[in-house]
Amino acid sequence: MSKAPKIISVANSKGGVGKSVVTILLATALAKEKGKKVLIIDCDNQGSISDMYENEKELKDGEPLVEVDELTPRKVQTFLKRFGNDYDVIFIDIPRMTDAKKDNATVLLLYNCDGVLVPVVGSQVDVLSTFDFVEIMEEAKIDKKEMDIDFRFYGFINRRNQRKYNEEAEEILKKNGLKMFSNSLPDLKIFTTPSFYTSILDSAEGERRFSDFYKEFKRKFKL
Ligand SMILES: Nc1ncnc2c1ncn2[C@@H]1O[C@H](COP(=O)(O)OP(=O)(O)O)[C@@H](O)[C@H]1O
Ligand SMILES: [Mg+2]
Repeated sequence: MSKAPKIISVANSKGGVGKSVVTILLATALAKEKGKKVLIIDCDNQGSISDMYENEKELKDGEPLVEVDELTPRKVQTFLKRFGNDYDVIFIDIPRMTDAKKDNATVLLLYNCDGVLVPVVGSQVDVLSTFDFVEIMEEAKIDKKEMDIDFRFYGFINRRNQRKYNEEAEEILKKNGLKMFSNSLPDLKIFTTPSFYTSILDSAEGERRFSDFYKEFKRKFKL
């Protein structure tokens, strides 16, 4: 394989909005359904994805659908240069930012991406803290456009049935430059601890609750 990988991040400056969970759901679905070689780079210093990965590997035989590598943000660019072309798709799990605009290491991670998917949970604080993040992505889009590089970012509402502020959140974010997916994800037990060995689309409930969102993801990010 020598074609450059598609690099995607499910990211938001906020923690606890579903970045890691949705990363695993999308990565395993792409690996299983499309036979793609998928890597998740875990840059979150809390290492939640790598921990979940190691735990599950201890419990199960066989090969997981995706690979996971834990890397500090500084190492990512060098890693991508050296090993990036071994993969079709790479997801980067980006750490939570305390001050999105000052956090250069994290901003650089976003610049490595072809696309960013922003989970939003419908609460006022979450929406407000997403504004700075959207601004960074708009700058990235402009900078990349100068070099003829496509960069796309979209938001989506996660845990839709849990919160009351969804429509308002979508409205405000759209006004502030974040295009929103027409599909969202509900809060469901099947999403809480996704597996690295199976795709959520393999279960009937998973297929019913995830496939429209997944199809929109593939369409919008050209996968
Ligand atoms: N759609 C969802 N349905 C049910 N639980 C969810 C959903 N999205 C996230 N969660 C749960 O919320 C918590 C935070 O999700 P996580 O992916 O770790 O967030 P982040 O990576 O943004 O910090 C986890 O316990 C996860 O299982
Ligand atoms: Mg996380």
